[in-house]
Amino acid sequence: MVGKGIRIEGLRKRYGSGDTAVDALKRVDMQVAPGEVIGLIGPSGSGKSTLLKALGAVIDPTAGRMILGDEVIYDDGWKISDLRALRRDKIGFVFQAPYLIPFLDVTDNVALLPMLAGTPNSEARQRALALLRALDVEHRAGAMPSQLSGGEQQRVAIARGLVNHPPVILADEPTAPLDSARALAVIRILNDMAQRFETAIIVVTHDEKIIPTFKRIYHIRDGATHEEAGQGRSID
Ligand SMILES: Nc1ncnc2c1ncn2[C@@H]1O[C@H](COP(=O)(O)OP(=O)(O)OP(=O)(O)O)[C@@H](O)[C@H]1O
Ligand SMILES: [Mg+2]
Repeated sequence: MVGKGIRIEGLRKRYGSGDTAVDALKRVDMQVAPGEVIGLIGPSGSGKSTLLKALGAVIDPTAGRMILGDEVIYDDGWKISDLRALRRDKIGFVFQAPYLIPFLDVTDNVALLPMLAGTPNSEARQRALALLRALDVEHRAGAMPSQLSGGEQQRVAIARGLVNHPPVILADEPTAPLDSARALAVIRILNDMAQRFETAIIVVTHDEKIIPTFKRIYHIRDGATHEEAGQGRSID
């Protein structure tokens, strides 16, 4: 089924309570359509990681709504019962530090998720290899994570985040360790994937190399977002 992207309305997140409470998100409204890649930008402590964790159903918001496709995930304190299944099946994560599994080779690191979801092993590996090729690390397919450079590890982590074709992908500084050409290649792949699989992709970044490529940017400051048109520069 074609998703309708992800939408949040009036999202708030308070850590702790009483005198030490921190209102990390005060009011966040955001909508990312299927096929869209948006940038999320803000100073340190503004709430970017908190927002990404809320979008990824890793932390529960204090108030507000989140709707993924047709499904209400959170609604003012209410939440769906199976957040684990949601995280596994609907959300792809690309973290800043690529948490690759050290005792699996590159191909199996990427193929593991589809295998766990019941895809036959050979098909899962084929899909992994196609992504590794697109990300220019296929030549390292049989290597162990410890044998890769930082940039190679990052590209493997990106392949892993994309491999199940989740309707939402959350990426935290995915291009930070990459040179300019590779950073732009990653953005091109994210845009391709977004369009091909109707994925909504949210990229937290400070990276000046990629910021001009976004058509739409959300700025976050003191826990509140505001939206801005980006340059939408084409990549080639
Ligand atoms: N688990 C926590 N308990 C209490 N306060 C927290 C917790 N996590 C984050 N905060 C606070 O919430 C606010 C937002 O933090 P967050 O990590 O979302 O910022 P960020 O925009 O990701 O910053 P950075 O760019 O430095 O990673 C900060 O004031 C932070 O100190
Ligand atoms: Mg952060």
